[in-house]
Amino acid sequence: MKCVHISASKGYDVLIGRGLLPSLGERAAALCRGRTCCIVSDDTVAALYEPAARGSLEQAGFTVCTYIFPHGEESKSGENFLKLMSFLAANHLTRTDLLVALGGGVTGDLTGFAAACYLRGVQCIQVPTSLLAMVDSSVGGKTAIDLPEGKNLCGAFYQPALVLCDIDTLDTLPRDIFLDGCAEVIKYGVLGSRELFDKLHGDYDLLQVVAQCVDMKRAVVEDDEFDTGRRQLLNLGHTLGHAIEALSNFTLSHGKCVAIGMAMMARAAVKKGFCPRETADEIISLISQFGLPTDTDTPAQEIYQTALGDKKRQGGSLTLVVPVQIGDCLLHKIPVEDLLGWIV
Ligand code: NAD
Ligand code: GLY
Repeated sequence: MKCVHISASKGYDVLIGRGLLPSLGERAAALCRGRTCCIVSDDTVAALYEPAARGSLEQAGFTVCTYIFPHGEESKSGENFLKLMSFLAANHLTRTDLLVALGGGVTGDLTGFAAACYLRGVQCIQVPTSLLAMVDSSVGGKTAIDLPEGKNLCGAFYQPALVLCDIDTLDTLPRDIFLDGCAEVIKYGVLGSRELFDKLHGDYDLLQVVAQCVDMKRAVVEDDEFDTGRRQLLNLGHTLGHAIEALSNFTLSHGKCVAIGMAMMARAAVKKGFCPRETADEIISLISQFGLPTDTDTPAQEIYQTALGDKKRQGGSLTLVVPVQIGDCLLHKIPVEDLLGWIV
């Protein structure tokens, strides 16, 4: 097992290993004063892992209730959030009690935000079961729900008490959803590690790769917990990716859109003189090797118009994450009207 300790406004461990789920209860009992716990999970993940999570928590002395919602991004809604709040109140959870987010990024974001809001803050343990949630969303304390006007528009920075990544849970993850996480893993390689990038070409150890990504996220979050500077690097491929995702009416998955966004930024970085063509070719080739897309038929003008609504826009400017070489990217601020020239 690997342990990455995050020293943010609240310190906590991210544990990465195999067969960790049965230890959830014992670890939760050591961190939490209360003995009532609510597991939050979508219907798919609950069917697979809720009994093991519940059994472990009950064995450690917790009274457990479980809130199950339909899987999918639509459940990261205000309506579902309020239903969860009422469920917590109806089950008499108090300030010293605990929420457990058991699932992918949707579950983690929803539950983390509920933990930040319920009684003005209760403890939350993240048990990510998708690759994306393990390497990104469960770590660093960004929590949110979506509004009809856009994704993640209502949220809070709220760090968990523990993150438990049981790599064995990835065995049941459908291949396509696993690939979404791979796009984020490639992102870490491009952002900060030639060694990780090269490793991804061969037979890699998934546990080691997850731990390496978590450690890279640790460094960024410790430096810029509230996303005012360096943390924006984690948005590599996301500004254009989010626009492409929205324009597909969310029929194209987040990971695939991030992959397209990264490839576009690589091509644009060459065009604008930030990185050599060989570097962009390497990035695009690795994305393709994973079976992820590197281009879209969506017209550049439409991507541009949609990206203007990006929540990361600051007034008349946007900060892009631009690859310089493998393992090194920089933040580059542009006037929003220049964005069209970056969509290639
Ligand atoms: P998700 O939670 O919807 O999971 C994807 C699908 O995989 C779901 O249908 C789920 O039921 C299923 N699933 C999850 N684990 C499984 C398992 N072990 N076996 C079988 N099926 C399993 O989505 P996601 O891709 O994990 O995360 C995407 C969400 O994360 C988005 O809402 C995005 O905004 C958010 N996100 C947040 C952050 C952050 O920093 N907070 C970062 C990146 C993404
Ligand atoms: N997923 C981007 C971040 O945590 O900042």
